[in-house]
Amino acid sequence: MAEHPIRTALVTGAAQGLGAAIARRLHADGLHVALADLNATAAAALAIELDPTGETARAIAVDVSDVESVRSCFADQTAAWGPPDVLVNNAGRTPRASVWEITPDEWDDVLGTNLRSYLLFCQLAGAAMREKGWGRIVNMSSFAGQQGGLVAGAHYAASKAGALVLTKIFARELAPHGVTVNAVSPAAIRTPAMGSDADAAEAGRSLPTGRVGTAEEVAAAVAYLVGPDSGFVTGATLDINGGVFMR
Ligand SMILES: NC(=O)c1ccc[n+]([C@@H]2O[C@H](COP(=O)([O-])OP(=O)(O)OC[C@H]3O[C@@H](n4cnc5c(N)ncnc54)[C@H](O)[C@@H]3O)[C@@H](O)[C@H]2O)c1
Repeated sequence: MAEHPIRTALVTGAAQGLGAAIARRLHADGLHVALADLNATAAAALAIELDPTGETARAIAVDVSDVESVRSCFADQTAAWGPPDVLVNNAGRTPRASVWEITPDEWDDVLGTNLRSYLLFCQLAGAAMREKGWGRIVNMSSFAGQQGGLVAGAHYAASKAGALVLTKIFARELAPHGVTVNAVSPAAIRTPAMGSDADAAEAGRSLPTGRVGTAEEVAAAVAYLVGPDSGFVTGATLDINGGVFMR
């Protein structure tokens, strides 16, 4: 199997939000980063910002809800740099909906986007990492997957709960092969969806920390989980939620 001299990462949903912050952080940490997103234009713009030569950052257009698109994304990554040493499953949809009104098609679409894509990428990347004897996978879950969504719908919460258990299953499968698989479970992270600074400050006041979190704080946690010092951490869920949920 093709080895790349520098660790390579595939980050899904990297065009904006947490995925973009993770891509920036891993690139700053010296990894070669592929930014996979449905929004190919924004992913390409960030890749160029990170490295105009394209040598250490590149964008891949992908619709993670489409099985063939996931496969061709992985093939694209593998052809360029070999299979990734690091996979961050982060792309997802966060629809709001009453549990009484979710249609079967909407359920399937959210589960297909947010959870089946994690399965497919874990299968593809995990098999290659197992063969290499080293790898790091992080699956982005959510507080909603632990406690039920407060705002997002039941389909979203179910997909994020599924991500937690999928993480444990792959962690157990891959632990003997030098591959760790962990979940990150954020809540109340400052994103455009939160509205104005005043809205974010208001949201923060209800948290034990008295403030909302930042995408960079989530990215720093991911950087630890995909780094060289976290080899004994696997199957874990790291809560990044300002203390709103403790266990
Ligand atoms: N922001 C938060 O507070 C928060 C809290 C809990 C969990 N999360 C999780 O973190 C992840 C990122 O959240 P975010 O706030 O940055 O979201 P976001 O909506 O800002 O970004 C999501 C990215 O995923 C991409 N995407 C969506 N559907 C896709 C598809 N079918 N194929 C490929 N790419 C697709 C979008 O284009 C976008 O770039 C998600 O999995 C979300 O559930 C976020």
